[in-house]
Amino acid sequence: MSLYDAACKVREMAYAPYSEFKVGVALRTSSGAVFTGCNVENVAYPEGTCAEAGAIAAMCAAGEREIAELVVVADSPQPVPPCGGCRQKIAEFAAPDVRVTMASLSGARQIISVADLLPGAFGVGHMEKF
Ligand code: THU
Repeated sequence: MSLYDAACKVREMAYAPYSEFKVGVALRTSSGAVFTGCNVENVAYPEGTCAEAGAIAAMCAAGEREIAELVVVADSPQPVPPCGGCRQKIAEFAAPDVRVTMASLSGARQIISVADLLPGAFGVGHMEKF
């Protein structure tokens, strides 16, 4: 199954009663394994947990740490970009040249590198004193 198909499939499982906006994410790691996640909202924090965070948590729980490719799918006229927090989470586990595909069910697509998704990213180098 393609990453796009896997993202569409997990998107159906999203719990989004507040926004009614379902998002699905599928990522492939450097080992070739695929992990998926959907957004999960709650009444106290209606924005809930993003689909990207869910897929990354599943990857980490399986002991994997290296994203090789990631696809985000939503039902929107334009491809939906990961939120700011998710950009930092993706950058934690993906090299700058890793490809992030934003896709909509309508067929719109945008492909962007992790470096372009989070320019000027905060990294461990910023914590070095010398
Ligand atoms: N959302 C995601 O899961 N990923 C994104 O890339 C953008 C937004 C979710 C969070 C919330 O459940 C809903 O979409 C509306 O913001």
